[in-house]
Amino acid sequence: MTHAHITAWAVGIILFFVANAMYKNKNSKAKMVHMITRLMYIIIIITGFLLYQSIMKTATGDIHMWYGIKMLIGLWVIGAMEMVLIRTKKEKDAKGAWIQFVIAVLVVLYLGLRLPLNWAPFA
Ligand code: HEM
Repeated sequence: MTHAHITAWAVGIILFFVANAMYKNKNSKAKMVHMITRLMYIIIIITGFLLYQSIMKTATGDIHMWYGIKMLIGLWVIGAMEMVLIRTKKEKDAKGAWIQFVIAVLVVLYLGLRLPLNWAPFA
Protein backbone atom coordinates (compact mmCIF):
# COMPACT_ATOMS: atom_id res chain seq x y z
CA MET A 1 0.00 0.00 0.00
CA THR A 2 2.88 2.37 0.68
CA HIS A 3 4.05 2.05 -2.92
CA ALA A 4 0.57 2.74 -4.21
CA HIS A 5 0.39 5.79 -1.94
CA ILE A 6 3.76 7.14 -3.06
CA THR A 7 2.99 6.52 -6.74
CA ALA A 8 -0.39 8.23 -6.34
CA TRP A 9 0.95 11.43 -4.77
CA ALA A 10 4.00 11.58 -7.05
CA VAL A 11 1.81 11.31 -10.17
CA GLY A 12 -0.77 13.66 -8.60
CA ILE A 13 1.80 16.38 -7.88
CA ILE A 14 3.33 16.11 -11.38
CA LEU A 15 -0.11 16.37 -12.99
CA PHE A 16 -0.86 19.31 -10.71
CA PHE A 17 2.13 21.22 -12.14
CA VAL A 18 1.18 20.22 -15.68
CA ALA A 19 -2.44 21.34 -15.22
CA ASN A 20 -1.25 24.61 -13.69
CA ALA A 21 1.03 25.37 -16.64
CA MET A 22 -1.74 24.44 -19.08
CA TYR A 23 -4.25 26.76 -17.39
CA LYS A 24 -1.67 29.54 -17.56
CA ASN A 25 -1.16 28.94 -21.28
CA LYS A 26 -4.94 28.74 -21.75
CA ASN A 27 -4.60 25.26 -23.19
CA SER A 28 -8.07 23.85 -23.87
CA LYS A 29 -7.02 20.44 -22.52
CA ALA A 30 -6.16 21.87 -19.09
CA LYS A 31 -9.58 20.87 -17.75
CA MET A 32 -8.94 17.26 -18.74
CA VAL A 33 -5.58 17.11 -16.96
CA HIS A 34 -7.23 18.77 -13.94
CA MET A 35 -9.88 16.01 -13.86
CA ILE A 36 -7.18 13.31 -13.90
CA THR A 37 -5.40 15.17 -11.10
CA ARG A 38 -8.65 14.99 -9.12
CA LEU A 39 -8.83 11.25 -9.73
CA MET A 40 -5.34 11.02 -8.22
CA TYR A 41 -6.59 12.92 -5.14
CA ILE A 42 -9.12 10.14 -4.59
CA ILE A 43 -6.46 7.43 -4.95
CA ILE A 44 -4.11 9.33 -2.58
CA ILE A 45 -6.87 9.57 0.03
CA ILE A 46 -7.92 5.91 -0.27
CA THR A 47 -4.34 4.55 -0.12
CA GLY A 48 -3.51 6.96 2.75
CA PHE A 49 -6.58 5.84 4.65
CA LEU A 50 -5.70 2.17 4.15
CA LEU A 51 -2.19 2.84 5.50
CA TYR A 52 -3.81 4.57 8.46
CA GLN A 53 -6.10 1.63 9.13
CA SER A 54 -3.22 -0.82 8.84
CA ILE A 55 -1.46 0.70 11.82
CA MET A 56 -4.37 1.83 13.97
CA LYS A 57 -4.90 -1.61 15.53
CA THR A 58 -1.43 -1.62 17.06
CA ALA A 59 -0.60 2.09 17.45
CA THR A 60 0.03 3.16 20.99
CA GLY A 61 0.72 6.45 22.74
CA ASP A 62 1.20 9.59 20.69
CA ILE A 63 1.81 7.65 17.45
CA HIS A 64 -1.96 7.45 17.17
CA MET A 65 -2.21 11.24 17.21
CA TRP A 66 0.62 11.69 14.70
CA TYR A 67 -1.14 9.44 12.21
CA GLY A 68 -4.27 11.58 12.61
CA ILE A 69 -2.19 14.69 11.96
CA LYS A 70 -0.52 13.05 8.92
CA MET A 71 -3.98 12.44 7.45
CA LEU A 72 -5.17 15.99 8.09
CA ILE A 73 -2.08 17.61 6.60
CA GLY A 74 -2.28 15.20 3.62
CA LEU A 75 -5.83 16.43 3.03
CA TRP A 76 -4.60 20.03 3.40
CA VAL A 77 -2.02 19.45 0.61
CA ILE A 78 -4.84 18.28 -1.65
CA GLY A 79 -7.01 21.25 -0.65
CA ALA A 80 -4.15 23.65 -1.43
CA MET A 81 -3.51 21.99 -4.82
CA GLU A 82 -7.16 22.41 -5.73
CA MET A 83 -7.16 26.04 -4.57
CA VAL A 84 -4.08 26.83 -6.69
CA LEU A 85 -5.64 25.26 -9.80
CA ILE A 86 -9.03 26.94 -9.41
CA ARG A 87 -7.52 30.35 -8.74
CA THR A 88 -5.08 30.04 -11.65
CA LYS A 89 -7.93 28.97 -13.92
CA LYS A 90 -9.98 32.02 -12.85
CA GLU A 91 -6.89 34.21 -13.30
CA LYS A 92 -7.00 35.24 -9.65
CA ASP A 93 -3.99 35.68 -7.38
CA ALA A 94 -2.94 32.18 -6.27
CA LYS A 95 -0.05 33.28 -4.01
CA GLY A 96 -1.77 32.38 -0.72
CA ALA A 97 -2.71 28.97 -2.07
CA TRP A 98 0.89 28.37 -3.26
CA ILE A 99 2.26 29.27 0.17
CA GLN A 100 -0.15 26.79 1.76
CA PHE A 101 0.84 24.13 -0.76
CA VAL A 102 4.58 24.52 -0.08
CA ILE A 103 4.18 24.48 3.71
CA ALA A 104 1.75 21.56 3.72
CA VAL A 105 3.90 19.47 1.33
CA LEU A 106 7.04 19.98 3.41
CA VAL A 107 5.21 19.08 6.62
CA VAL A 108 3.54 16.01 5.10
CA LEU A 109 6.78 14.72 3.59
CA TYR A 110 8.51 15.12 6.93
CA LEU A 111 5.68 13.40 8.82
CA GLY A 112 5.35 10.59 6.26
CA LEU A 113 9.08 9.92 6.45
CA ARG A 114 9.16 10.18 10.22
CA LEU A 115 6.28 7.82 10.94
CA PRO A 116 7.39 4.20 11.34
CA LEU A 117 5.85 2.38 8.33
CA ASN A 118 8.29 1.57 5.53
CA TRP A 119 11.02 4.08 4.84
CA ALA A 120 11.52 6.30 7.89
CA PRO A 121 14.81 8.25 7.58
CA PHE A 122 13.67 10.95 10.04
CA ALA A 123 12.44 8.57 12.72
C1 HEM B 1 -0.32 14.93 -1.65
C2 HEM B 1 -0.51 14.53 -0.42
C3 HEM B 1 0.36 13.52 0.31
C4 HEM B 1 1.73 13.34 0.29
C5 HEM B 1 2.79 14.13 -0.49
C6 HEM B 1 2.02 12.21 1.18
C7 HEM B 1 3.30 11.72 1.45
C8 HEM B 1 3.58 10.59 2.20
C9 HEM B 1 4.91 10.03 2.46
C10 HEM B 1 6.23 10.62 1.97
C11 HEM B 1 4.75 8.92 3.21
C12 HEM B 1 5.86 7.98 3.75
C13 HEM B 1 6.06 6.77 2.86
C14 HEM B 1 7.15 5.85 3.42
O1 HEM B 1 7.28 5.73 4.64
O2 HEM B 1 7.90 5.26 2.62
C15 HEM B 1 3.33 8.78 3.48
C16 HEM B 1 2.77 7.80 4.26
C17 HEM B 1 1.47 7.84 4.75
N1 HEM B 1 0.44 8.67 4.32
FE1 HEM B 1 0.62 10.15 2.99
N2 HEM B 1 0.84 11.75 1.72
C18 HEM B 1 -0.20 12.52 1.21
C19 HEM B 1 -1.55 12.40 1.47
C20 HEM B 1 -2.08 11.57 2.44
C21 HEM B 1 -3.48 11.50 2.83
C22 HEM B 1 -4.60 12.35 2.21
C23 HEM B 1 -3.57 10.56 3.83
C24 HEM B 1 -4.78 10.07 4.61
C25 HEM B 1 -6.00 10.02 4.18
C26 HEM B 1 -2.26 10.01 4.05
C27 HEM B 1 -1.93 9.02 4.98
C28 HEM B 1 -0.69 8.41 5.09
C29 HEM B 1 -0.37 7.36 6.06
C30 HEM B 1 -1.31 6.80 7.13
C31 HEM B 1 0.99 7.00 5.85
C32 HEM B 1 1.85 5.97 6.62
C33 HEM B 1 2.87 6.73 7.45
C34 HEM B 1 4.10 5.90 7.81
O3 HEM B 1 4.08 5.23 8.84
O4 HEM B 1 5.09 5.96 7.07
N3 HEM B 1 -1.37 10.64 3.19
N4 HEM B 1 2.64 9.79 2.84
